[in-house]
Amino acid sequence: MEAEKSKEELMLALIREIASCKKCGLWKSRKNPVPGEGSLYAEVMFVGEAPGYNEDLQGRPFVGAAGKLLDKLIEERLGLQRRDVYIANVIKCRPPKNRDPLPEEIAKCTPFLDRQVEIISPRIIVTLGRHSARYILGKAGISFRSIEEVRGREFTVKFATLYKMFSVHVIPTYHPAAALYKPNLVEPLERDFDLVRELLKSLGD
Ligand code: URA
Repeated sequence: MEAEKSKEELMLALIREIASCKKCGLWKSRKNPVPGEGSLYAEVMFVGEAPGYNEDLQGRPFVGAAGKLLDKLIEERLGLQRRDVYIANVIKCRPPKNRDPLPEEIAKCTPFLDRQVEIISPRIIVTLGRHSARYILGKAGISFRSIEEVRGREFTVKFATLYKMFSVHVIPTYHPAAALYKPNLVEPLERDFDLVRELLKSLGD
């Protein structure tokens, strides 16, 4: 990170770049880019997959039904408010009809996510769903077939950027949208959030 610039300046510059990005075709169909939002001083950062219908309309992450569940988990299981954490996605523009992000869209867009992680330097990243886990754990050479293999476990991932190297604890969990369709996933999601709370507590100040 450029040492002389504040987190606010760096994030503002990044948001402007995202707003004018045309590196993949998604800018053509999006209504608004969804860079992410929350505290630039957050200890916990959440990374989802991609904006959906409501997020595209509002330009904000996780504002639909899945977002309501995420907010509830943040409040009830972590004892935090949404404004205390940072919430971003692997890709910043909505794929048409909410299809999965394409590999080339992920490749073009994830440098933005890397810079967000660098600016925020969270202690913990919680990946929501398989695309997010695949990208973040991939940085540590960890691959998986099914999200079941990694969710609810703690990993350490090193981020190496132009300006610094640092390690982040990573806890993958289910995507909250999956738990809306499969209510039996709510309980494991809650347990994974409890693990995040325990880890935060053990990391201390
Ligand atoms: N699903 C995501 O992965 N991200 C959002 O911002 C909303 C829904």
